[in-house]
Amino acid sequence: MKRKRRWQPDLSVQLGPISLRNPIVAASGTFGYGSELATIVAPSALGAVTVKSLAPFAHDGNPPLRTTEATGGGMLNSVGLAGPGVDAWIRDELPELEATGATIFVSIWGRTVEDYASAAVSLQSVAGRIAAIEANLSCPNLGGHEMFAQSPSLTEAIVAACAGAIPIFAKLTAQVTDVVSVARAAIDGGAAGLTLINTLPGLMVNVESRTPALGAGGGGLSGSPLHTVALRTVRDVANALPDVAIIGTGGVSTGSQAVAMLLAGATAVGVGTATFANPRATLEICEGVARWCHDHDVRTVRALRGTLQWPK
Ligand SMILES: Cc1cc2nc3c(=O)[nH]c(=O)nc-3n(C[C@H](O)[C@H](O)[C@H](O)COP(=O)(O)O)c2cc1C
Repeated sequence: MKRKRRWQPDLSVQLGPISLRNPIVAASGTFGYGSELATIVAPSALGAVTVKSLAPFAHDGNPPLRTTEATGGGMLNSVGLAGPGVDAWIRDELPELEATGATIFVSIWGRTVEDYASAAVSLQSVAGRIAAIEANLSCPNLGGHEMFAQSPSLTEAIVAACAGAIPIFAKLTAQVTDVVSVARAAIDGGAAGLTLINTLPGLMVNVESRTPALGAGGGGLSGSPLHTVALRTVRDVANALPDVAIIGTGGVSTGSQAVAMLLAGATAVGVGTATFANPRATLEICEGVARWCHDHDVRTVRALRGTLQWPK
């Protein structure tokens, strides 16, 4: 039987310039383009929903197989940023997602700085209807292309090129020597905050066929095996840049893992792969955070941020 709580913790958070009703954000690429999951999870019950990355053009993505289980309880994907393009999304998907009352973050990608600028310009036409742009600078599945977030100068240039009325979040990778320098570059470029982290490049091998398990060869590792790396990245960036809003993302599937992300310095928590195992994971994680706060007499979830006691 569910225990009724005597009081409800305040779950609202302030993510840079954006007020969220709670800290749980559906991660890009794991919650569709719009309202696909709305019959299972009311998008308005989440802090925000991040739409799968969109380019200024339609893109087919990678050949199948695009997803597989990864060793250690994770997932490997090489979807390759398939999508209809920003303008088609605005026309065909935004109205339905908007009607759910969701706080909408739109992830964008491109092959050049100009591509990002062009996607951001299209989105300025719906500035009052979306809360943020997330510039995906860190997809590992675009064979032959550099991950922009491995270069501080390209990161800064792309964020600056996207500037407009909509706050920009830069989504970074942990596959760098010094993530703090890339984070600083994003903020210097005008980012309102950071999303940490994207998947990490990985490989699964089919030993019978002696081929990669995924059609594109390698893929991006997500889920449980990513959690410790994400926590460490969030802690290191938050420690260096304590005032910067961070959506901590990677391997979160329980309320206490989300709490760990907040303690490490995240302002909000992205949830991706967990949704594939349990479509209601975002809601259940949110409920888990509320229960944890209640059981630890934490009245407002904002009080948790960055309170990890790091050894001296
Ligand atoms: C199938 C799949 C598709 C994804 N597509 C995108 C994408 O389009 N854009 C993006 O920025 N991240 C994408 N990601 C990365 C997630 O948003 C997230 O950063 C990553 O999976 C780590 O979080 P998780 O362990 O909770 O999944 C994708 C992840 C998965 C599993």
